[in-house]
Amino acid sequence: MANARISVDPDRPIGGIDRRMYGVLVEHLGRCVYTGIFEPDHPTADEHGLRQDVMELVRELGVTIARYPGGNFVSNYRWEDGVGPVQERPRRLELAWHSTETNAFGLDEFMEWCRQAEAEPMMAINLGTRGEEDAINILDYTNGEVDTEYANKRRANGHEEPYDVRMWCLGNEMDGPWQVGHKNAEDYAYLAGSTARAMKMVDQSLELVACGSAAWEMPTFGDWERTILDLNYDEVDFISMHRYVDPDVQDRASLLAAGYDMDRFIDGVIATADAVGAKHRSDKKIKISVDEWNVWRLAAWNSIEHGFATDDWPEAPERIEDVYTAADALALGGMLISLLRHADRVKTACIAQLVNVIAPIMTEKGGRAWRQTTFHPFSIGSRIARGTAYDAVVSTARTSTERYGEVDQLDAVVTWDEGTGKGSLLALNRSLTEPVDLSAALAGLGVSRVVEAQIIAPDDLDAVNTADDPDRVRPVPHEVSLAEGVLTTTLPPASWLAVELA
Ligand code: AHR
Repeated sequence: MANARISVDPDRPIGGIDRRMYGVLVEHLGRCVYTGIFEPDHPTADEHGLRQDVMELVRELGVTIARYPGGNFVSNYRWEDGVGPVQERPRRLELAWHSTETNAFGLDEFMEWCRQAEAEPMMAINLGTRGEEDAINILDYTNGEVDTEYANKRRANGHEEPYDVRMWCLGNEMDGPWQVGHKNAEDYAYLAGSTARAMKMVDQSLELVACGSAAWEMPTFGDWERTILDLNYDEVDFISMHRYVDPDVQDRASLLAAGYDMDRFIDGVIATADAVGAKHRSDKKIKISVDEWNVWRLAAWNSIEHGFATDDWPEAPERIEDVYTAADALALGGMLISLLRHADRVKTACIAQLVNVIAPIMTEKGGRAWRQTTFHPFSIGSRIARGTAYDAVVSTARTSTERYGEVDQLDAVVTWDEGTGKGSLLALNRSLTEPVDLSAALAGLGVSRVVEAQIIAPDDLDAVNTADDPDRVRPVPHEVSLAEGVLTTTLPPASWLAVELA
């Protein structure tokens, strides 16, 4: 049996874990909004049409911020279509996902959903087909406090108080040729910069996110970030990063090392941003918004004919409804460890998406809602991994992967929240065959008690949760010991452990 030792230096925190680490993407895509969070005819729907069975799961998931309305959708979206009397809202062709947008759900409904979910709204603006003027108008609608056209429209629509939206994404994946209004780096940089300047003329304190490259694999990655930040270093606060790992294009050992992949990508973005900062002789550090991350069988999606026939523009069709395996949950748990390990720079992260579309929550139209396997590591993390992240120095055996060669068998992060006197140890055993005996020296943090230990240790890595068997994969209690601040336990092969400490 392999051994792993963890030590934590309480004087060397990584950084504060921003509340916005536990975000989601809510996009007008497939059934994420329609028959996902919003279904007026559903038996559990409230007077706003919001499904309360889904709302309960969203609260349990622990969502802190929600990015809206896309994703690719935003790049051909007219936000005004989605406000005002519902019967007067136009129907439009939706180009990103080839469907018909009814606009029955829009900005005000989303704000109500955020209020109920206790999640902060994070708005994306359309820099595909639009620009500065529309950015200022939507900002006036959401946040306007004086007597102006759009603030008055909001009031006329029954929303007297401004929504005070703090975070704004300047477009979405603008280097992707699939994006409506796709741009080269210079064109996007100038548009994002002038839009940012205009928005900050309205409110200096807004937090603005420039689009990073759509993926690590993009030929534009690196140069794109450098160009955007070089031209806009003082204007923007965040650069975005999107990361999806595809289980179908890699061996399972590599999938369980998804956190290694995430580390590599985040470190690359930080290095690029800091190189630009150095060139500008700036003390400012650009923050990272990992505003899309997840496991996604993307190659399978790209290889099928989506029914994008030109005469077929369905309303809320089933799109990208990936069913997650137990192995996928472990990969996601590993990615979460990586995000927390970068808590000093990753200040926002959004799992993409929330319901039905590559999502932790699934629904039936008119029927049940349930938790996918990936729901569990996210909800546990959101509940217990708060406060400050600490570098867990791990001494461990290595395990082989096809994609990354040898990687650490055990990966871990430790968190501690001075305010609540609670903390967490999250650990992943990446080996498919070897258990590991773990000992973690946590006395320096003042740990004296284990509140709860749970593990996802699947008997079948291909197992999935379904409406009929929603708890097939779920965390179960796990035996750990704590003596004089040293926690000991054994992790079975391919398992993700979460210990709440006090
Ligand atoms: O989350 C699905 C899609 O993935 C988003 O719309 C887009 O931003 C990304 O390519």
